[in-house]
Amino acid sequence: MTDSTPDEGTAIADPDGPPALRFPYDARPLTADPLRTDRLVLRPLEASDAADVFEYQRLPEVIRYLPWPERDRTEAAEHTAKRAAGRILAADADFVVFAATLPGTPSVDDPARDRVIGDFMVRVSNAQHAQLELGWVLHPDFQGRGYALEAAAAVRDFVFETLRPHRVQAFLDARNAASAALCERLGMRREATILEEEYNDGEWQDTAIYGVLRREWAARRAG
Ligand SMILES: CC(C)(COP(=O)(O)OP(=O)(O)OC[C@H]1O[C@@H](n2cnc3c(N)ncnc32)[C@H](O)[C@@H]1OP(=O)(O)O)[C@@H](O)C(=O)NCCC(=O)NCCS
Repeated sequence: MTDSTPDEGTAIADPDGPPALRFPYDARPLTADPLRTDRLVLRPLEASDAADVFEYQRLPEVIRYLPWPERDRTEAAEHTAKRAAGRILAADADFVVFAATLPGTPSVDDPARDRVIGDFMVRVSNAQHAQLELGWVLHPDFQGRGYALEAAAAVRDFVFETLRPHRVQAFLDARNAASAALCERLGMRREATILEEEYNDGEWQDTAIYGVLRREWAARRAG
């Protein structure tokens, strides 16, 4: 799948061992050798994906529960370029964003390329304690068909197999029912609701935290 060697055996054999993140991790080879699911191809986001990303980033219903302001096309392209720059995971707050492309569906600005229908982020929450975070966004035209689950499950499995976190987590606006349902379909558990953690769009917002431990992921896989 990638030129990194997955180590599922070790992950399952010693799920309670000390933090053992395989860092630094270089995601650049994933551009040529992406993750593949039944219907999607997942490779690192590129600045040239800006037009496809704008198709969902510009929609109020998409950014409603994301900490993204409304952006015009130019601002959105700058934002995509910043998100596309993440390739090396080595320290807290490092990230890589996977573009989920749908083979056979052309990009909005380049018919020769497959369209990016959403993106799936991996971020380092805490390298010392082997905690990683996932995040996701999918164009509404492609929601309700299991694409987000398919992509997020592939990224979750890749992360556990290749990077060996002790725990994978997600932080959501507590009102985000679609994202909470996705977390649960991924085998993540709601572990906390932090009241009024952020002030966004003129109101205090609660944050839900979902998580899954490596041993839970391994048991689910084995079972
Ligand atoms: C969160 C988000 C990615 C979830 O997308 P989604 O399409 O609902 O998620 P899934 O891929 O799991 O699809 C599930 C739905 O597809 C249906 N479905 C259809 N075919 C399916 C298939 N082959 N496999 C699985 N589910 C399928 C399921 O029944 C389910 O429908 P339901 O919601 O009516 O129960 C999406 O709502 C989104 O991008 N929101 C905006 C951005 C955002 O808030 N991101 C999260 C920030 S924390």
